[in-house]
Amino acid sequence: MNLMMMKKKIFLTRTLHEFALRELKRRYNLKVHSGKIPIPEKKLRSEIKDIDGLICFPYDKINQDTLGMAENLKVISTYSVGFDHIDIEYAKSKKIRVGHTPKVLTDATADLAFGLMLDVVRRVSEGDRIIRKGKWKVIYGAHDYVGYDLQGKTLGILGLGRIGKALAKRAKAFDMKLAYHNRSKISENLEKRLKIKYVSFGELVKGSDIISVHVPHTPETEHLFDMKTFEKMKKTSFLINTSRGKVINEKDLTRALKNKIIAGAGLDVFENEPISGKHVLSKLENVVLAPHIGSSTKETRVEMAQITIKNLDLGINGKRPLFSVGY
Ligand code: DGY
Repeated sequence: MNLMMMKKKIFLTRTLHEFALRELKRRYNLKVHSGKIPIPEKKLRSEIKDIDGLICFPYDKINQDTLGMAENLKVISTYSVGFDHIDIEYAKSKKIRVGHTPKVLTDATADLAFGLMLDVVRRVSEGDRIIRKGKWKVIYGAHDYVGYDLQGKTLGILGLGRIGKALAKRAKAFDMKLAYHNRSKISENLEKRLKIKYVSFGELVKGSDIISVHVPHTPETEHLFDMKTFEKMKKTSFLINTSRGKVINEKDLTRALKNKIIAGAGLDVFENEPISGKHVLSKLENVVLAPHIGSSTKETRVEMAQITIKNLDLGINGKRPLFSVGY
């Protein structure tokens, strides 16, 4: 039997680092999708049929119809912490393991959330656009391009998991006040250490100067931020989102930003990605946009690739991935 036939078959829906491809090629019969991204569902359905392992990315639709086509699949290893693109329950019912990459991207994502907050509150990107358009005329005008202090402001963190906690640490160093809302309350000890107060969602919305979103996209969190929510927020408040776009109703957010119902937003994620310069949000000055780069640092992306491979290796051999979701 030739060696290629003995090697287990794996499929990548996008390419990865050279070192990762080399490693995967050594151990597996590897195929990498090189066309449209995210991979069209039809293509994925034909590829998934006889593979043993799948490495996928956010926005690949690993739904019931796709998984239903898989005859040998033992593991799905996603190059992301988020797994809302995978039907976890159905994978579980088919005894397909699912691995993801939390922890290693915590600091990178918290840094970005903080960066977006600092940027939009101090109007850095807005100023950059003004200069590039040749519109900077008055030097040091007392009322020009003024933002807000972070010191003393209340940062409301929605979702106090790893990334939310890492953001709290950063905000504390800036002397911000901290509040959070979460499915479950953390221990009082930890609340004391982080100097953070548990509040209801309503209180978080009403009382925060800046809200940073760190909840996954689920049916419960979809469009949690809509016009009703924006109307309860302070007019001077800002919204930061580095989790998933669908947690925010973008149409309502656009209206809220245009009509100054809230002061601004910093967004790394959108309802439908990628967005272009023609998108309505791209036309607004009081919003900072990033192209889904929460985990995009050289160090983090390498570590994510390593964990993705480790998860795949374990799952393909019938073991629980290092970071496992569901089965
Ligand atoms: C993830 O890992 O889910 C993030 O969205 C990537 O930035």
